[in-house]
Parts: sequence; C-alpha cells; structure tokens
Amino acid sequence: MFHQTTEFNLGEAVVGRKRLGLGLAALGRPGYINLGHAADLRHDYDMAAMEARAHAVLDAAWAGGVRYFDAARSYGAAEQFLASWLASRRISPEDAVVASKWGYTYTAGWKIEAEKHEIKDHSLPVLMRQSTESRDLLGTHLDLYQIHSATLESGVLDDRAVLTELVRMRSTTGLKIGLTLSGPRQADTLRRAQNVEIDGQRVFDCVQATWNLLETSAGPALQTAHDAGMGMIVKEALANGRLTARNQNAAFAEKRRLLEAEANRLATTPDALALAAVLAQSWADVVLSGAATVEQLQSNLGAMAVVWDEEAGRRLNALSEEPSQYWGTRGALAWN
Ligand SMILES: NC(=O)c1ccc[n+]([C@@H]2O[C@H](COP(=O)([O-])OP(=O)(O)OC[C@H]3O[C@@H](n4cnc5c(N)ncnc54)[C@H](OP(=O)(O)O)[C@@H]3O)[C@@H](O)[C@H]2O)c1
Repeated sequence: MFHQTTEFNLGEAVVGRKRLGLGLAALGRPGYINLGHAADLRHDYDMAAMEARAHAVLDAAWAGGVRYFDAARSYGAAEQFLASWLASRRISPEDAVVASKWGYTYTAGWKIEAEKHEIKDHSLPVLMRQSTESRDLLGTHLDLYQIHSATLESGVLDDRAVLTELVRMRSTTGLKIGLTLSGPRQADTLRRAQNVEIDGQRVFDCVQATWNLLETSAGPALQTAHDAGMGMIVKEALANGRLTARNQNAAFAEKRRLLEAEANRLATTPDALALAAVLAQSWADVVLSGAATVEQLQSNLGAMAVVWDEEAGRRLNALSEEPSQYWGTRGALAWN
C-alpha cells in the first residue's frame, strides 16, 4: 500500500516516495494522441470550457492527494490553465510541485488537425524564450524545468551553451533541471545524460521517462540513475490509453483479457492496476496520471490502494513487447 501525504517539497516529491502526479498533456489543447481524446473532450474546444474541464480534473486530483503537476510549453494552454487554477485555489508554491518543459513550440493553432502540432528546437534562443514564458505564467510555483524529449540525435546533451544556461538557472533561481525521454533509445540517452557535467556539476537532477507494462526496456537504466540520486518521474504509464478498458483493438484482445483478469483478482480497474505496476518499481518516484476526465482521474487514483503482489508481476510480464513494436505503434497514434 502506498501513501499520498500533503506536506511537499521537490526532494520529497521526487526521490524515494511513491506518489501519483497529474500530467496536463491531454487537458491543455484540443488535439492529442491518446486513444479517445476527442470523445473525452466531447468535441467541445471552447477555451473557457477547456479551462473549466482542466480545473475540475485538477480539483479532483488535489482532493485525492495529488501534489505533483506536469505541464509543457507545447501543451497548448496547459501552463496557463495550471497557473489560473493555482491562483484561484490559493495554492502556495510550498504546497505543490510544478514541473514544465521547453523545447517544443505549440503550432496547432487550437485545432485538432494541423500540418504540425509542435515544432522541436532545443537551441539556446528557444530555451531563453520559453523559460521566460514559463516563468511569466507559473512564477515561483515552477520547481522543475525539463528538456522536452531530449535525444542523442538532437545534440542538446552536447550543447555547452544550453547546458551552461540550465546550470545558471538552477544556481540563480533554485529551479531543478531535468530531461524527458522518448523512443527506443531512452536508456542510451539517460546513460549519457547522467554523465553530463558543466564545470564539475552534474546538470540533471531528474528524468521523466516512459515505462509501462508494454514497454519495460528502460527499467535497468532507470534503476541505475535512481541509485545515483536522480529523481524518477514516469509518463505514459497507460501507454496513451492502450492499457485501459478503452483499447478494443483486436490485436490487444488477449492482453486486455489478462489485464482485466488480474484487475478482477486484485479488486481494481485495469488502468489502476497498470499504474500500480509502475508504482511497484523500486526506482519510480512519481508516476503521472494523464487523465482527461474526472472519472478517469478517480479510477487512476485507485492505483494507490492496489495491494501489488509477485503473482501480478509474474503474470503481467507477458504484456511486454519489443521496444521497436511499442514505439512504432505509438508513432502511428492519430491526433484526435
Ligand atoms: N515526452 C514527454 O515529455 C511526454 C510525453 C508524453 C507524456 N508526458 C507527460 O506524461 C503525462 C501522462 O502521459 P499520457 O497522457 O500519455 O498518460 P497515459 O497514462 O499513458 O495515458 C492517459 C490516457 O489514458 C486514458 N485513460 C486514463 N484512465 C482511463 C480510464 N479509467 N478509462 C479509459 N481510459 C483511460 C485516457 O486516454 P483516452 O481517454 O484518450 O483514451 C488518458 O488521457 C502527460 O500528461 C504529460 O504530462 C510527457
């Protein structure tokens, strides 16, 4: 059994405590790749309606003990919705941990269909522009600033100007610095990131990575980085909705039956069980829910009550797939 407690600071939030956080990727903009996103939003993309929806999910998360919130510059109005919620609920910076990301610019123009939904650029001018935008919205609530989907190919881990600025931001503002990972080479990128230093100082305090019952390949690297003191935040714990009852794809039918059978045995829901599987990893500090509705959030919170056992771990191992297969399927998910 895991516990959510109310007292909070980044160190406690991210290292050595089992917690659920809430990510705002599905709440901040009309289009996203999660399976039933358009249905979750009931095709209502009015800005005020979307803000009210985000606030309702944030309220439900807060009531359920969630104190960690994850946004990004590229999640449409996510930072803005989070900022207006923190202000209207009079939540002080000491009581919540807020993380955001830079490196992608939102370009969908509040539409579902766009030629490009976001543009990736990990250069120093983008860091300077987006960090100012994030600070303008989130102010002293912002605790952790992450490179959004750093890869070896993007060159950002070798960009001395960017890395020096990140270290400068940490020393002048107290922000923690992180990176998020994506793709089949998450482990390689993390191993490289762990050794990145500027003037003898390690650059990265935290990493946000994908680990779920389908894609477990980064596990050993996440364990090593955790043991070396990095905070571990897990995203896509439900594989963008693929590890929920909503996934009616025929190719997933056998795996869905297995997940549902285990969920029944442990008296929980498939989504809560899949989140509990991540909470059960010794290296996982914060596990993000990506709920798009209050109902999903409440179901996800059930993960905290799951009494995980070895049998569940053994049986659910059968769900894991080759990283190339996992990331190929993810790459083909439609924006909706
Ligand atoms: N590169 C990065 O840095 C990066 C990338 C991805 C995510 N993230 C962060 O991680 C967070 C979580 O990622 P994610 O959204 O991909 O998370 P996820 O947990 O894998 O998927 C969340 C989705 O699962 C579905 N779901 C959840 N509960 C459900 C239920 N009870 N019944 C049916 N469906 C349910 C919903 O999708 P549908 O209803 O639409 O099917 C929901 O939007 C994001 O919000 C973001 O903050 C970061």
